[in-house]
Amino acid sequence: MSQEQDLLIKGHEYDGIKEFDNPLPGWWLITFYATIIFAFIYVIHYEFGGGPTLSQELEVAMKEVQAAKPAASAAPQESEEELMKKAQDPKLLAIGAEVFTGKCASCHGNELQGLIGPNLTDKYWIHGKGKITDMLTVIKAGVADKGMPPWDGILKQDEMIAVSGFILSKKGSNPANPKAPQGEPVE
Ligand code: HEC
Repeated sequence: MSQEQDLLIKGHEYDGIKEFDNPLPGWWLITFYATIIFAFIYVIHYEFGGGPTLSQELEVAMKEVQAAKPAASAAPQESEEELMKKAQDPKLLAIGAEVFTGKCASCHGNELQGLIGPNLTDKYWIHGKGKITDMLTVIKAGVADKGMPPWDGILKQDEMIAVSGFILSKKGSNPANPKAPQGEPVE
């Protein structure tokens, strides 16, 4: 045994068994102590400090998912009949008129006669058959490649129903300077 080895072994002999004094690498020890410290923090936080349990975390995450869903899909789907009834409410029509002037007239014209967007008073429809449910679908989703913006999230469900009812109330109003018919005629 060389002198160097002898020095390393010094003090590490037991019952005639000799071993080298090989200290564990520093990075290993740091990781090891860190896990011990982490364990204490973990137990204190989750067992005594009121940290959330897994089911509480799930609850929070599910709430976030629910909130992230567009309000529209969460709202119950109303039938055409229910919507027609709603749309006849003068208060709602007034809201519809206001929404239309503010948000839609720039493209569909003040009298709904059509400008960039189609005439909404004639019997021609590109999307659907001019029913409230058809209009709601287009108004919500928009027609991205044709320049009709999506209004879901910008307008409330009731405002979209109101503006659809307002459009319906102007059916056959024959405004001046109507835009040429677009889409299919619906009798
Ligand atoms: C930036 C211009 C623009 C604005 C603002 C706009 N629209 Fe449109 N809209 C269009 C265009 C363009 C189309 C035609 C889409 C196509 O060709 O498929 C359209 C189509 C529609 C249709 C379907 C018409 C059909 O014949 O099927 C409805 C209903 C409609 N818009 C309602 C609205 C309402 C309600 C608003 C306001 C909340 C609104 N639009 C605001 C441009 C606009």
